[in-house]
Amino acid sequence: MKLILPAFLTLAAGACLAQQNTANYDESKAGEVILPAVLKSLDGAKITSSDEWTSKRRPEVLSLFQDHVYGRIQPKPDDLKFEVTATRRDALGGTATRKFIHVSLAKHPQWRGMDIMLYVPNKAQGKAAPVFAGLSFNGNHAVSKETDVPVSDRWMRPNTKNDKAVKNNRATEESRGVEASRWPLEMIVGRGFAVATAYYGDIEPDHAEGWKEGVRAALSSDAAGTVWKDGDWGAIGAWAWGLSRILDYLETDKDVDARHCAVIGHSRLGKTSLWAGASDPRFALVISNDSGEGGAALMRRNIGETTEIITRAFPHWFTPKYRSYANNASACPVDQHMLIALMAPRPVYIASASEDNWADQKGEFLSGLNAGPVYALFGKSGIGTESPPEIDHPVGDFVAYHNRTGKHDVLDYDWLQYLKFAARHFGM
Ligand code: GCU
Repeated sequence: MKLILPAFLTLAAGACLAQQNTANYDESKAGEVILPAVLKSLDGAKITSSDEWTSKRRPEVLSLFQDHVYGRIQPKPDDLKFEVTATRRDALGGTATRKFIHVSLAKHPQWRGMDIMLYVPNKAQGKAAPVFAGLSFNGNHAVSKETDVPVSDRWMRPNTKNDKAVKNNRATEESRGVEASRWPLEMIVGRGFAVATAYYGDIEPDHAEGWKEGVRAALSSDAAGTVWKDGDWGAIGAWAWGLSRILDYLETDKDVDARHCAVIGHSRLGKTSLWAGASDPRFALVISNDSGEGGAALMRRNIGETTEIITRAFPHWFTPKYRSYANNASACPVDQHMLIALMAPRPVYIASASEDNWADQKGEFLSGLNAGPVYALFGKSGIGTESPPEIDHPVGDFVAYHNRTGKHDVLDYDWLQYLKFAARHFGM
């Protein structure tokens, strides 16, 4: 059966593939990359200590990212409500307890809220478990293979791999488990970690007009009539806000050790996990899986996706100002190594995939490398090598990196590295 898509989606998907094919992949044409100095303040002073970084330069860099890339970070709302709607103690073959938590805003009922799915290992037995928190592309029922997980009824992008999984922008029974390979729940729980996840479309549906049904309209003074201006938040800001609200809930759940929460995301949700890690220092560890342009990849390199391409295809992800750097990235006062530096001294893991040239693997590596001087101020070592490592050779201490064999995806290989990394840094 032929899938009928709204015109803007067919255009976006088609345009994206065409752009992937015509983008530059020739290193000799990557352009001259002169990065903004991460350790020089706006007043010209050199930053030489971790205290100066924390009190002076970090706030500057964080504001620059808000003004020029992702938009202003919204404060924690004062009307946040959590309701545990279901608990099952014998989930995942008896190894985990699964809970659903509905998150809403009491004074902003126009936002339908978000449903967290939380798995906590049963073997933790009274000891709070460290936790991974991340958003999914297809809903809780797509992450879990358990058939009693409610199918999301929210707006959803068509599924490119299974055209029966989403019909008329709504998930069907066919979409159960479609994202399960990216969330190896048994493996994560088996290593003693809890997992908290929610559907990113609960926070804001991912299309140009999606904000009207999401938290951005609900929190805006002019609801759906808002005209977004430079410095206002975009969808990545909204999704990152949702991750912080997940963490707010985790802080209230005694089964979970919210002080050891690793935020994780893939692709556009990897851009989101980086922005969440930068904007909310409570995240103890940050993971970017194949986040590419607008995520870990340096914007000044003309390889794969560029600022021009991403802001044309997905303007709603960013603050409007970011579009002004299309074909003009060198005018932007930040580059993405400074985003990675905002995590310091917390551990951060950047992963690429060898066939994912669109995300510019070398640009992702270079961001991690160039965040190193900030980690050094804290006496922490970074990525530990000046040039990208061989494929399937993870490197790094507080800034870690790997380029895994294969496509743009999250595979068990990636998770095995993240689990090892988190266990090491969380002292497990
Ligand atoms: C597109 C987009 C990327 C994004 C990816 C995804 O390819 O150009 O920037 O990371 O979608 O989220 O899957």
